[in-house]
Amino acid sequence: NINLVTVDGPSGSGKGTVCHIIAARLKWNLLDSGALYRILAFAALQKKISLDDQKSLANLALNLNVSFQSNGVGVDTLLAGENVGDKLRTETVAQAASQVASLQLVRDALLTRQKAFYKEPGLIADGRDMGTVVFPDAPVKIFLDASAEQRALRRFNQLQSKGFNVSLAEILSEIKERDFRDRNRPVAPLKPAEDALVIDSTSLTVVQVVDQIFELMKL
Ligand code: CDP
Repeated sequence: NINLVTVDGPSGSGKGTVCHIIAARLKWNLLDSGALYRILAFAALQKKISLDDQKSLANLALNLNVSFQSNGVGVDTLLAGENVGDKLRTETVAQAASQVASLQLVRDALLTRQKAFYKEPGLIADGRDMGTVVFPDAPVKIFLDASAEQRALRRFNQLQSKGFNVSLAEILSEIKERDFRDRNRPVAPLKPAEDALVIDSTSLTVVQVVDQIFELMKL
């Protein structure tokens, strides 16, 4: 019996941080599904594949040579052996990721790869459609949300601490644009699964959110 927790939600809701903490504490596997969409977008930009060329993108997704390697403090994302982690965090890549993510064939192409993360001793899956599409039978589903302003502020602080020169106003408008696209696309739109617990983290600390999830897992 393998344990499974899904955490879905919009950009900047704190999913990444919370999932890393839970995975580290339980020594479970972690699926950062957003990273897969970002890598695909990055590879497409590199290969100059048009972001609406559904067939070529799906083909690229099926053949993507990507791996995640723990480096002690975090996870390195390798594309054909090269660590591309930092290059994936740019807004250009985020917007492109959200564009390719709206394509049905692309999502289908990444499905098997995502399901393969489900193995002993357990999995915490971070994304937009983990509880609705990829792992609909997960026993514990979380939908993590927060106000757009709070999410933009978190993303601003995160990018600034990594040395990126960014503007809060720009991040807010980009987050709103990406959310709108993610929530309104016909394929796997961002929304809570019917059996998900919705947590609004606008005024919660990371520790408070993690504690709530551990409480739920005990039930
Ligand atoms: O870190 P942040 O929340 O800003 O983005 P991300 O989780 O890395 O995801 C980047 C983009 O990939 C999102 O805006 C979604 O459009 C897409 N995505 C998706 O469609 N389905 C997922 N399971 C994960 C990400």
